[in-house]
Amino acid sequence: MHTGEAKIAWAGQFMPVLAVIRRRFEEEKPFIGLSIGMALHVEAKTANLVRALAAGGAEVFITGCNPLSTQDDVAEALSETSGVHCFARRGCSAREYYQAIDQVLDGRPHITIDDGMDLIHRLHTTRTEVLDGVIGGCEETTTGVHRLRAMAAGGDLRFPVVAVNDTPMKRFFDNVHGTGESALTAVMVTTNVLIAGKTIVVAGYGFCGRGLSQKARSLGAHVIVTEIDPRSALQAHMDGLVVMPMDDAAKIGEIFITTTGNSGVIAGEHLAIMRDGAILANAGHFNVEIDTCWLSDHAREVVRREGIDTYLIGEKRLHLLAEGRLVNLATPKGMGHPIEVMDLSFALQALSTEYIAKKGRSLLPGVYLVPEAIDKEVAGMKIASLGIRIDALSPAQVTYLSSWDIGT
Ligand code: ADE
Repeated sequence: MHTGEAKIAWAGQFMPVLAVIRRRFEEEKPFIGLSIGMALHVEAKTANLVRALAAGGAEVFITGCNPLSTQDDVAEALSETSGVHCFARRGCSAREYYQAIDQVLDGRPHITIDDGMDLIHRLHTTRTEVLDGVIGGCEETTTGVHRLRAMAAGGDLRFPVVAVNDTPMKRFFDNVHGTGESALTAVMVTTNVLIAGKTIVVAGYGFCGRGLSQKARSLGAHVIVTEIDPRSALQAHMDGLVVMPMDDAAKIGEIFITTTGNSGVIAGEHLAIMRDGAILANAGHFNVEIDTCWLSDHAREVVRREGIDTYLIGEKRLHLLAEGRLVNLATPKGMGHPIEVMDLSFALQALSTEYIAKKGRSLLPGVYLVPEAIDKEVAGMKIASLGIRIDALSPAQVTYLSSWDIGT
């Protein structure tokens, strides 16, 4: 079997929720006559989502959302899928990256699906002639939702977009367990270093930082958290972690992983005081969290290995993983989040896309939460697929919960 097909089939076995949705889409064809433009990480789980949408009657145009995350064999398999046009290639230049986004937009999408908002950005800047036909979109990740909210606040967003990232069935699983496991796995398979006993600095204690800290700690790491929000910092403290500013953490950390979604989190002044042999990785969407320019400017030599660039700065070595890009996908052995987690995220994407297809025309431009019914439906399907049974409210409990006059 083609290696891309084999990867897609492997992932498909562990995506029972998406499989149920795909079967319904095959029967109901909710996307007939619609074109869907996507900029997502092109790998095996994503391919299962693409095929579910195509099975629902969509013509799908897809490219990557990061120059280093595409798996070329999967992209090739997708290109050979009926109703699917794939333009993604691993290791593309910035120019080629945007050319591929333009090819997706040439498909005149009625619905967009983004991971990071590059597609919507292009649509609203250089490709505005495509805007008129767009019904709405869906966004996968925290960074993309931040960008969308900034656009909407400035009155610049021209259609409704569902913030898939913000729904509980995404955040509590994908961000916590997905990023938690996959970022740590990526660091381990790329470097082969032991986690137990290491001092790991996690920048940011949002859903991703929390997951990552928990997993690192359970492997025996000493976890230090850096934060800018006092509430998150307090949460980290009460979760038993050490909290300090990056100025202090930089001196003692052995492995650094950024999860903030913000720029300049590990700046030149931090890199300058790090110990010899420090390992640096980013788990946020864009490669802006670690000052890679400072590393290039200050290195007397750079030694390149698979997924690791070692910057020789004076007598010190600093090891940067995956060029500071999203480590779980951009490192050569990175496979992204575990499959079962993406089953949930992509089930949400599939149902949110259907929601936009059916209801998008009646929504004003803006950022929308995933409808509660969809979030619950995905949870219910996952629980059922696991064979887990749960209780139901009794009629008396329903009455109690809807009353306000029963007190002490
Ligand atoms: N695989 C496909 N999309 C992904 C994402 N956003 N994060 C991690 N793995 C992925």
